[in-house]
Formats: sequence, structure tokens, C-alpha cells
Amino acid sequence: MPEVNRQWRVARLVEPGELIGPEHFAWHEAPLPEPADGEVLVRTLCLSTSPAQRGYVSLNRNRQLLPDVAVGAVMRGRGIGVVVASRHPDFAPGELYDASLGWQDYSIQRPRAPESIFSLRRVTDPVRPLTTELGVLGNAGMTAYFGLLEVGQFRGGESLLVSAAAGGVGSVAGQLARIRGASQVIGIAGSDDKCRWLVEELGFSAAVNYRTEDLGTRLAELAPRGFDVFFDNVGGRILDTGLAHLAMRARVVVCGWISVDYAGGAATGPANYRQLLYKRARIEGFVVFDYWKRYPEAQRVLKQWYRDGQLRDCGHVLEGLERMPLALQGLFTGANRGITACRVAPDP
Ligand SMILES: NC(=O)c1ccc[n+]([C@@H]2O[C@H](COP(=O)([O-])OP(=O)(O)OC[C@H]3O[C@@H](n4cnc5c(N)ncnc54)[C@H](OP(=O)(O)O)[C@@H]3O)[C@@H](O)[C@H]2O)c1
Repeated sequence: MPEVNRQWRVARLVEPGELIGPEHFAWHEAPLPEPADGEVLVRTLCLSTSPAQRGYVSLNRNRQLLPDVAVGAVMRGRGIGVVVASRHPDFAPGELYDASLGWQDYSIQRPRAPESIFSLRRVTDPVRPLTTELGVLGNAGMTAYFGLLEVGQFRGGESLLVSAAAGGVGSVAGQLARIRGASQVIGIAGSDDKCRWLVEELGFSAAVNYRTEDLGTRLAELAPRGFDVFFDNVGGRILDTGLAHLAMRARVVVCGWISVDYAGGAATGPANYRQLLYKRARIEGFVVFDYWKRYPEAQRVLKQWYRDGQLRDCGHVLEGLERMPLALQGLFTGANRGITACRVAPDP
């Protein structure tokens, strides 16, 4: 076993409107930690990224889902790890876990009650490469599954509009709607390449490049009667435009607002919210961790669809812990396609 534990620690907080990147983190080499009684030492194999991570290290004190990460602390991050040493009777070396491991090679874990989102979740019957467990079967998959099917109440025969469609959550949400028998799945994405990928590889009906096309005009052409479900990952102008294209009794799922969060400045509300009244529509936000106890149920379904080839894992994997800050930055510049993960050590 190596003697150092490579880590990314928080160097400074992100200013409102600032792009998060390597300058906000400091590379550190700490001694390898030793587990005490009741603890386990876990080696990180791969880590996932999420736009929410910008919030944990942001000067913009909006209400966050989880506490901030202090300057000097190891950056928070979920991943898949393998137990390498255990002083806990329920954990054995070699077992795989999905856990909050932090941006580092090794972490000491003190197992918590299963209902805590910081608990270690055993990965049984894993899909390989293990980055898949972080993607389509991980938090992005869970967010798409519960957001679309529970919050959005999406049913076969309905139409779906999804923003940031070529990102992690969006690419799964669109595929789930297709599998569930959607009449139409339209994605919104930031490049022609991403739009082509959505249609040719993931089976979307069509995709609109919001950077080069007039989004409102294209949505009116593609779905004259509007969308039954609008799964919104970005907020801002795209949310507002989508609200003008709802079908009667539509459901708008507020999953995230990456366009607003990153822009800085005063947030403005969606002018088209009046459409909710005209269309007798419903708008609802959700936090995927509220479904934590039901993750195994969703994972069973998604794993089955993945294994029988209906659901594609669209992972975007960067090699090396060193690249973690760039992996996170890519979510805000649109450099990513599909679910972004970072490979820290080879699958055992
Ligand atoms: N509610 C929950 O519990 C929950 C859980 C997980 C994630 N989320 C949210 O779900 C959303 C997607 O998360 P993810 O992890 O799957 O990230 P992601 O979609 O893989 O990456 C973010 C994508 O957002 C797009 N984007 C970035 N800046 C933008 C801007 N200014 N305007 C429009 N689009 C922009 C980019 O795609 P383009 O190149 O297409 O612009 C980028 O690829 C985020 O808002 C996240 O906060 C919510």
C-alpha cells in the first residue's frame, strides 16, 4: 500500500459568478490514516461530480442541501471505494461501497445508520467498470428516475422536454422516458455534437441547440400541443421558454438551476409562470436524497434495463484524481457529455 494519501483540499471559496476550477483547490499529500476501533479504511476507486459541489465551497450563502466544506478541509465527494482495512465487525476487506469518500485516495469511514446519506452503501452484484455504478446506477440515475417518474408522474404516451439533456441526469431522464413509451422526447443541449448524440445514440426524438437556435420557435415546431412533462436542469431563460410550451395539465420538474447559479447577480423569476395557470399545470422541486431509502428499488430497475441493453451508460470518465477539479469545472462550461466521473484507482 502507498504511504501517502493524495488529497484535494479547499484552497479558497468561489465568488458569485466565478467559474469553479483548479485554483479553488490545493493538492496535498497526507500520511496514510489508520482505522481506530469501529472504523474502516476505504480506498477510493472512482469519484462522481455534481454541480451541487460548487455550492459547498461557495461564498454565495444560498441555502445548501448539505453543510459547507471549510477552507483547508478535504473536498466532499461521493464515490465507489473498496475496504482495505477494517476494525468493524460488519465490514471486511475487499467489499465495495458507495460512500462519501472525499477527493482523496483513502478515507476513514465510521459506519452510520443506513438512513444517513453519509452511510456506506454496499455495492453487491456490481456492474463494471465501476464508474457505471456512479453514473446510470448512481446519483444521476436516481435523480432522473425519481424526478421523472415520481415528481413528474411521467406516463407512457406522454411527451417530455428535458434541459441539459446531454448531461448526467438529463441523458438518463430522456432514456427513461423513451423506455416508458414516450410519444416524444425532446432534449435541449449546448452544441450540435451533443444534439446529434442524443438523437443518434440515445434515441431522443429531436434535440435543440439553445446556443445557436431560437429555442421558442423550435419547441413550437416540434411540439405544437406542448409538453406533458418538462424536466428542467438549468433554470433561467431556458426554464422560462419551456414554460411557454406546456400541454394542458403539464408537470414541470425543478431539478436544478445551473444556468442561474453560475451567472451571479440578482436572480430573476420566470416571466412565463402565468402559463401554469392557463395550462392548469404543476411545478414541483425535489431533492433526490429524500428518496434515499428507495434507492435500491430504483437501482434494481435501472440495472435490469442497463443489462438488457435498453438503457445506455453514458459515462464521461477522466483519468486520475489530479483531474477532479477540471471534471467539476466541465459541468459549468459544458465540456462534459453524459455522467462525469473520475477514475482514481483501477477496479479491483
Ligand atoms: N434535485 C436534485 O436532487 C438534484 C440531484 C442531482 C443533480 N441535480 C441538478 O441536476 C442538474 C444536472 O446535474 P448533472 O450532475 O447531471 O450535471 P450535468 O447535466 O452533467 O452537467 C451540467 C450541464 O449543464 C449545462 N449547463 C451548464 N451551464 C449552463 C448554462 N449557463 N445554461 C444552460 N445549460 C448549462 C451544460 O450542458 P450544455 O453543454 O448542454 O449547456 C452541462 O453539461 C444540475 O442542475 C444539478 O444541480 C439536482
